[in-house]
Amino acid sequence: MSKKDKLSVEPYKGVRDFYPEDQAFLQYLFTTIRGVVEKVGYVEYHASILEPAELYKAKGSDNEEIINEQSYTFIDRGGREVALRPEMTPTVARMVAARRRELGFPLRLYSIPNVFRYERPQRGRLREHWQLNVDLFGSRSLAADAEVIGVAYGIMSAFGARESDFEIRVGSREAINAIATEHNLNETQTKELFGLLDRRAKISEVDFDAGLAKLGVNKSLLSPKNIPAEIEKMIADFRDAGIKNVVYDPSIVRGFAYYTGIVFEVFDTHKDNNRALFGGGRYDNLTALFDDEALPGVGFGMGDVTIRDFLTVRGLIPPYTPPTAVYIAVTKPELALEAQTLAGELRRGGVSVAIDFGERKLGDQIKTAGKHKIPYLLVVGDDELAEAKFVVRNLASGAEESIERAVLPEYFAELG
Ligand code: HAM
Repeated sequence: MSKKDKLSVEPYKGVRDFYPEDQAFLQYLFTTIRGVVEKVGYVEYHASILEPAELYKAKGSDNEEIINEQSYTFIDRGGREVALRPEMTPTVARMVAARRRELGFPLRLYSIPNVFRYERPQRGRLREHWQLNVDLFGSRSLAADAEVIGVAYGIMSAFGARESDFEIRVGSREAINAIATEHNLNETQTKELFGLLDRRAKISEVDFDAGLAKLGVNKSLLSPKNIPAEIEKMIADFRDAGIKNVVYDPSIVRGFAYYTGIVFEVFDTHKDNNRALFGGGRYDNLTALFDDEALPGVGFGMGDVTIRDFLTVRGLIPPYTPPTAVYIAVTKPELALEAQTLAGELRRGGVSVAIDFGERKLGDQIKTAGKHKIPYLLVVGDDELAEAKFVVRNLASGAEESIERAVLPEYFAELG
């Protein structure tokens, strides 16, 4: 095989490989998130990546872009049309509808699935991402909307973000629908109004005004000053609780047609990250796809790609440390089994240890430990074994200490 016949080492377009440092970041993300959401009573669920494609075609979840342009679908061997989930909301609505009689309400659920969208890959947008989903079912209370927004705020704080780093923009589909009714807009025109608001940040003020004029809609109604009473109350309550970066933004309407009430997005305020970190809102009719009785829901999604950009530009990503505490190098290959025995003693004492097999020079073995970012090194040689004493080297500082074999597990346990 010539070199040009070899397979590419690149992953599929728009998806990522997670090397240990990337995976460690993901785990940090998940652990931090769990710490916040579980404190507020959310419990974890999960589901398969595969769903019947009709779930996203059904009335009420008709985000045209998602179904027509962004879904990964295929026909299985039984002739069924299958989709890789592009989002989790229809799945969780299905799961809740399936057990609505057994489940207790209000019901607080979260999940961190990977989701797939056929998008043009760019900064902050990929074809696969991990997305936290937090959803609350069975309440129409404004306090439920506020709780969910508060959870988003809590997650940002847990990552070390300050209020000036992000803004929580709240809009209302109900308010826009009321404006459409007032102006006697038909279904197509109402859709146009939502589309115009959704694109507002991307188009010029002149084009926005022209769009409104075409629909005959009075622009002053879409001013941040014309704030719906319930959003005004929510923002005042947040202020009283010391949360000051929640604002009313009438152009937040969200792309998904299933939202029925308050909608919101958390925006990164850094100029390089011009994207939403979270998106969500109230959807009171989605379970009606599966059941006659609609069950109210409110929730949000947050992706790993945008939050990573957010944390990176602010230096908030914690430094990587592997789970391995100690690397054992050997002066010759024949001592690999001795190293294994010593490693066993340490592991029984609760220490994570990896060994080298001595196939490379000692200097190279030490470099390997450094590449893996393992904090401590031990060298096993004939003299060390005879004396039952080993030099422990701190690879970051270079400091060394000679420790007796019998007390090594305690020594590392104390180092933590
Ligand atoms: P969404 O706004 O489409 O909402 O996605 C939520 C978040 O997922 C976005 O703010 C962004 O962080 C991330 N995200 C979305 N698409 C991509 C992509 N192609 N690449 C990287 N990150 C992405 C939903 O999906 C709703 N189902 C959320 C929801 C849950 N609403 C209620 N409950």
